[in-house]
Amino acid sequence: MTALRPLVQVEGLTKTFLSRGAVGGRVQTTKAVSNVSFAIGRSENLALVGESGSGKTTTGRLLLRLLDATSGMVRFDGTDIAALSRSALRPFRRRMQIVFQDPYSSLNPYLRVGDAVEEGLIIHGIGNAGQRRDRVAELFELVGLRAHQAERFPHEFSGGQRQRIGIARALAVNPEFIVADEPVSALDVSVQAQILNLLEELRRKLGLAMLFIAHDLAVVRYVATHVGVMYLGHIVEMATADRLFEATRHPYTEALLSAAPRLELGHGAERIVLSGDIPSPIDPPSGCPFRTRCRHARTECADAPMTLEAVGPDQVTACIRYREIYS
Ligand SMILES: Nc1ncnc2c1ncn2[C@@H]1O[C@H](COP(=O)(O)OP(=O)(O)OP(=O)(O)O)[C@@H](O)[C@H]1O
Ligand SMILES: [Mg+2]
Repeated sequence: MTALRPLVQVEGLTKTFLSRGAVGGRVQTTKAVSNVSFAIGRSENLALVGESGSGKTTTGRLLLRLLDATSGMVRFDGTDIAALSRSALRPFRRRMQIVFQDPYSSLNPYLRVGDAVEEGLIIHGIGNAGQRRDRVAELFELVGLRAHQAERFPHEFSGGQRQRIGIARALAVNPEFIVADEPVSALDVSVQAQILNLLEELRRKLGLAMLFIAHDLAVVRYVATHVGVMYLGHIVEMATADRLFEATRHPYTEALLSAAPRLELGHGAERIVLSGDIPSPIDPPSGCPFRTRCRHARTECADAPMTLEAVGPDQVTACIRYREIYS
């Protein structure tokens, strides 16, 4: 039973931010994450995709408990970490780590990169000085750098190399789960593939579970085993990666797929241009949040419940019209 249990299990996760509006100073509520549920098993990489402001980063931070949820559950290896005290949370902190988007600003320029990688080991009281030095050397090799480079400072590295250091730092304490929030968005296209390959290799080699956040479906295709598509705080479609790329069952995913520049579109596939901006999460549309930009929307979509329906064993969609649209 334990062996089959997903490492990360999220149920009904919701995060509402309260902020003062620019006009009149009234308190506004932003539902950044709405009733999100999913599971990630060991060696699985769930990619979250969606436009800016759809709630991807907030979801990642809730999973790591860098943010407290408004409601819902985050189980890590069976324990609801959303409810744990600071001290009870400590052992879980080691088991889940984050890789940041920007390898330039996430490394302290005055700290030798080896010391930056060692930091987590010190914080968690792992090993003596000699053992930690050996571990840092091993990590540098693991991420495709040379052990002696640990002596250098961040400015001596390229963007891609810095992201390798960021990954080494996340891996130092032997985590089981990693949140990678747009880990290649700040990198040149030419080095993106190298970092994606590294993440994919580490997932396989170490059995890492991953939440991989991205804008770009082309990037996701390299690494994801599963994909969740987010729109205005909701997951609107989720499937295994193969299934999603082969046969989407949601018009928003369809639009994202058609916009992905480096994906080969099937024969005769048209490019769908989404009209209008994403609505404000402070005042979202009723029913299906995508209906205001959906070319398939009908009046009934204004009352659509935001629940996910199983399309098949490996796919769920929130679109109430998917049968008619994709028949
Ligand atoms: N601390 C905060 N206070 C108030 N609102 C916030 C806060 N953090 C995020 N939000 C709002 O929550 C929503 C979701 O933000 P989030 O950063 O999770 O989106 P995202 O999908 O990661 O976007 P991006 O692709 O731009 O990184 C946005 O409307 C954002 O403005
Ligand atoms: Mg983000």
